[in-house]
Amino acid sequence: MAMMPAAPSSRGKAARDPLPRPEDKRRAVRAMFDRIAPRYDVLNRVMSLGLDRSWRRFALDASHVGPGDRVLDLACGTGDLAAFAAARGAQVVGVDFALAMLGGARARSPRCKLAQADAAALPLPDGWASAVTCGFALRNFVSLPAVFAELARVVAPGGRIALLDVDRPDTAWLRAGHAFWFDRVVPRVGGWLSDRQAYAYLPKSTVYLPPAAMLASQLADSGFEKIAKRRLLFGSAQLWTAQRGKPSR
Ligand SMILES: C[S@@+](CC[C@H](N)C(=O)[O-])C[C@H]1O[C@@H](n2cnc3c(N)ncnc32)[C@H](O)[C@@H]1O
Repeated sequence: MAMMPAAPSSRGKAARDPLPRPEDKRRAVRAMFDRIAPRYDVLNRVMSLGLDRSWRRFALDASHVGPGDRVLDLACGTGDLAAFAAARGAQVVGVDFALAMLGGARARSPRCKLAQADAAALPLPDGWASAVTCGFALRNFVSLPAVFAELARVVAPGGRIALLDVDRPDTAWLRAGHAFWFDRVVPRVGGWLSDRQAYAYLPKSTVYLPPAAMLASQLADSGFEKIAKRRLLFGSAQLWTAQRGKPSR
């Protein structure tokens, strides 16, 4: 595969590309992940400086995933979280709408069941999951409330969810260093090694994440409780945990 940097004019164009309009987002995001699937894992390690795997383990610890659990790995991609959950003795179903990403998951985690589906229309019965994991996908969904409502349907009362995504540090100098890495280095390296347009989109897509108070109230409105946000690595990543409320008698 050719790994030459793009001509400056086209790299500039990718950086200026607007985010997809809401009506185009689903199709654009799915096509993008199908394109970048072959090099997704390598770029993940580079972009997070290898920290993404410890964040994933932390998400599983925080949601107490272990033997006997029935875990849905939502938007499972190439199956990193699914494989970690299966290694802890859980029964795992990974769902993603991008077929090429699921191909990576099949190779990585043969023990996990996989399904191609949209996060807002899951092929699982009501109350099937005792836990849900979701890594770095929230900002890619078209409607978070629709996805949270669907999660509330498939998670059993008392079941736990752990939703991981990127974030921006609060402290000014950390924020500046993070912005340099995430907004300038990542798109450039992503362009060299994989796909310019996709790795220009990924940092910009953080604007799709609602403020913390809004995300918490969307989870609460969907029937989740004990909602908590943790900031990882000085705020470079965020982990949301919550529990499906038990029906009141
Ligand atoms: C950044 S990747 C994360 C993959 C994996 N969870 C991880 O931690 O590496 C985002 C994933 O979300 C999937 N995705 C985005 N929107 C989706 C949707 N509406 N339904 C199902 N999968 C979706 C993409 O196909 C992609 O695999």
